[in-house]
Amino acid sequence: MSAFALTVNGRQYQVDAPPDQPLLWVLRDRLQLTGTKYGCGEGQCGACTVLLEGKPVRSCLTPVSTVAEKHIVTIEGLASNGSLHPVQQAFLDEEAFQCGYCTSGMILSAVALLSRNQQPGEDDIIHGMTGNICRCGTYPRIVAAIQRAAKTSRKS
Ligand code: FES
Ligand code: FES
Repeated sequence: MSAFALTVNGRQYQVDAPPDQPLLWVLRDRLQLTGTKYGCGEGQCGACTVLLEGKPVRSCLTPVSTVAEKHIVTIEGLASNGSLHPVQQAFLDEEAFQCGYCTSGMILSAVALLSRNQQPGEDDIIHGMTGNICRCGTYPRIVAAIQRAAKTSRKS
């Protein structure tokens, strides 16, 4: 076990964990931030996506020892002042989920996509979201939600 200082959703945490423990399990089991999901554990599905310094990473493949002192954002950190993030709101408005298991990772990947490209076309969205799998097949609604979020963000 080693001690690590983590910054998650703007809060500081001290955690004791094996250095090679995946960030996913630190978030879920030690910090009780269970919005980040375990899907494949192999970097293939994107269910475990979080933002590290604003970039999407697979928390199932990210050792906790590599993220100390870096800014981590999980799905629990997107809403502010009681209002959902525009991407969260757009997913709700477009009903862009069925079981919802992929949704946290989808939303965080979409937030990162929109930070890189504020006016993505359909192809940009499909390409940018390639690493996130939805087993329920709600892809058309996910694309619509990201387009809606892009419009909402441009107006605000
Ligand atoms: S659980 Fe991490 S990519 Fe699937
Ligand atoms: S909504 Fe079920 S996996 Fe995407």
